[in-house]
Amino acid sequence: MKIFVTGGAGFIGSNFITHVLGVAQNYSVVNFDKLTYAGNFANLDSVASNPRYTFIKGDICDAAAVAAAMAGCHAVIHFAAESHVDRSIYDPAPMIETNVTGTFVLLQIARRLHIKKFVHVSTDEVYGDLAPGTFAAENSPVQPSSPYSASKASSDLIVRSYFRTFGFPAVITRSSNNYGPFQFPEKFLPLMIANTLDDKPLPIYGDGEQERDWLHVEDHCRAIQAVLERGRIGEVYNIGGLDVVENLTMARRLLRATGKPESLISHVADRPGHDRRYALNCEKIQRELGWKAAISLDDGLRQTIEWYRTNTKWLVGVREGEYRTYYQKYYENRDSSLRAITEAGRKPAS
Ligand code: NAD
Ligand code: DAU
Repeated sequence: MKIFVTGGAGFIGSNFITHVLGVAQNYSVVNFDKLTYAGNFANLDSVASNPRYTFIKGDICDAAAVAAAMAGCHAVIHFAAESHVDRSIYDPAPMIETNVTGTFVLLQIARRLHIKKFVHVSTDEVYGDLAPGTFAAENSPVQPSSPYSASKASSDLIVRSYFRTFGFPAVITRSSNNYGPFQFPEKFLPLMIANTLDDKPLPIYGDGEQERDWLHVEDHCRAIQAVLERGRIGEVYNIGGLDVVENLTMARRLLRATGKPESLISHVADRPGHDRRYALNCEKIQRELGWKAAISLDDGLRQTIEWYRTNTKWLVGVREGEYRTYYQKYYENRDSSLRAITEAGRKPAS
């Protein structure tokens, strides 16, 4: 089985490639990645010389490059995306380009090449803000809040239409917040861990009472493999860790685990349109595919903190260059950056 993986140099994609090459000797992988700020060769050091692994640099919006690279593959696992909500608030255009147009390009080519299975990796964010105490099931309404989640929801709907109209062999997965090794430190947990290790403030958006469901990336990789091998065509599968925790509680757990003081917590201006709660009902994937998250949040958190503590070279590397400008704009100048966005939206057209 030769699988075409998009976005395999990112956080989840690189964990998936390492996982699948390790557990399935009959699989080979073509990793097709544009290497944006989020893509990192160092994530794949352990498989770089594996004869069953090939890397091709390319953009999923480039139809000719995709067609050439996908030829001869049996299945597609589509991870590539602009994946950060905050970036989508400051600049939505790359989200629409990669997440919507890029997915469309992949579908067109995969259809033409008679790909046997197309796994579209989506997110619980498409269900939008949930009422307190409720959980989204696969048939819950799709009500995205940010340009990022709207672009993911749009791509889900296009994938669904290819199944309904053309009988295209697609399956959609919607997972909750992943954490684990190799996650770029713009996302909540790696950013908080990196700041904790440096004794820097932990920037909590708003009151910090927003809830997220945390899933260890290894559990996610096992779930994707199960969907690839046994998932029913045309279906959606939720993939969650069932560990729903408030952001503030998560920050406190982290500080306790590292022996750092709670005074490092610093409340900062909230994210515009911030969803209060994501939580998934995952009965379907457990019932149909026998998958369930196996790594507890306590164990996963301990392992992840240790990974960031010991992989200093990786962490220093990804926090150089673009990351510094990013951090300045999104955190050090947060109030003025956010004001510029919200005021620009309210100005009458001149
Ligand atoms: P990431 O940002 O770490 O990695 C994205 C990868 O895609 C990078 O390697 C990047 O270079 C590549 N890429 C971006 N644009 C591209 C393009 N136009 N052509 C080719 N490659 C391109 O993302 P991640 O956190 O690993 O997420 C992977 C997927 O999982 C995304 O589709 C995301 O929406 C989804 N997801 C993520 C989470 C999470 O918690 N991280 C949860 C649910 C779903
Ligand atoms: O739910 C799945 C989604 O999880 C994925 O689809 C996205 O790709 C991924 O980025 C993630 O989105 P979130 O917006 O939930 O994750 P993020 O890590 O950006 O933020 C998690 C929560 O923490 C959210 O409530 C915002 C808050 N937060 C985040 C950052 C970066 C802070 O309070 N401070 C921060 O500095």
